[in-house]
Amino acid sequence: MKVISVVGARPQLIKLAPIAAAFASTEHEHMIVHTGQHYDADLSDVFFSGLGIPDPDIHLGIGSGSHGVQTGKALAALDPVFLAEKPDWVLVYGDTNSTLAGALSAVKLHLPVAHLEAGLRSFNRMMPEEHNRILTDHAADLLLAPTEEAMRHLAAEGLAARSTLVGDVMVDVCLNVRDAVLAGRHPAPALPEGIRPDEPYLLATLHRAENTDSRQRLAMLLDGLADLPVPVALLAHPRLVAKAEEHGIKLARGAVHVGRPLPYAGMVAAVLGSAGVVTDSGGLQKEAYLLARPCTTLRPETEWIETLVDGWNRLVPDPSAHSRSEWIDIATRPAPTAAQGTPYGDGRAAHRVVETLAAK
Ligand code: UD1
Repeated sequence: MKVISVVGARPQLIKLAPIAAAFASTEHEHMIVHTGQHYDADLSDVFFSGLGIPDPDIHLGIGSGSHGVQTGKALAALDPVFLAEKPDWVLVYGDTNSTLAGALSAVKLHLPVAHLEAGLRSFNRMMPEEHNRILTDHAADLLLAPTEEAMRHLAAEGLAARSTLVGDVMVDVCLNVRDAVLAGRHPAPALPEGIRPDEPYLLATLHRAENTDSRQRLAMLLDGLADLPVPVALLAHPRLVAKAEEHGIKLARGAVHVGRPLPYAGMVAAVLGSAGVVTDSGGLQKEAYLLARPCTTLRPETEWIETLVDGWNRLVPDPSAHSRSEWIDIATRPAPTAAQGTPYGDGRAAHRVVETLAAK
């Protein structure tokens, strides 16, 4: 069996790591095509080296652009690759513009497409990720779902016959890296200046279009972070840096200390070292849950509803709608004492993905 994985953005590289490792233990041929949607070393290269992923076989170098330009460039560049390579499966990941381009190119060439992390829904039709995941699920031949909830969403859209529950590959990688971090096999993470690893801090990220594109909304969220009584380590995604500059908003003020994005093991270590997480990232919400740190999510909804059980994750779309003390109480609350279930599977999802592809 020959499988082509199409990746392009940071969260896809994290999911690719356990898949590439699972393929490496088999006879199957696995090719990696990187669209180049993320091109900064901080968002791309360090994930390949840090997670032991083989270099991409093909790099398309599409870069940034409007959704149409970015998706269209990837689509046009993927056609000749798929035609030349004739894979048995094209495997696309998550919900980025690269995911949609990979699925669309493959399906139009009558190549079988599998979607990893299928069935997630925010039901927020303003989100580019929601467009990408719905369109990809409906185009794909095989839907590899991470959770029971995702399976229910797929069934509700008439896609049950194409869906298989494999579990979440993020568990595979997160728990492996956690064990390596706890065993001291990774250097201490490069936290922002002013953050002391031996004193309580909150770890924050902010990058979603719906939180960064409007000046007013971004300023409100940053005011909320600046106002907290605990130091906040804000690991700034390039989109956040670019948008803050465009809006004339200063990131570092009050409690906020700004640093660069971290490689994966650094991120896991930074979560483990933190008192809690404040974020709008999907992946980080789940990493906080898996690493047993309370998370506050700056969005009105989450695709990962399992993290909300027992208050491990709390949704705060609008910190300014709360009184200052209420907001502080939420963001600095201690970890719940309730035991967690294993809604994201057993850490063997990647092997199940390879077995499922080979069996079809
Ligand atoms: C993308 C995904 C999002 C994912 C996120 C993770 C889409 C629609 N969104 O959002 O689902 O959670 O990646 O990081 O695909 N930029 C750089 N260097 C880079 C990449 C981006 O400076 O290496 C800047 C550029 O100014 C660019 C902006 O970030 O215009 C946005 O990048 P883009 O790839 O469009 O989407 P993300 O916001 O990163």
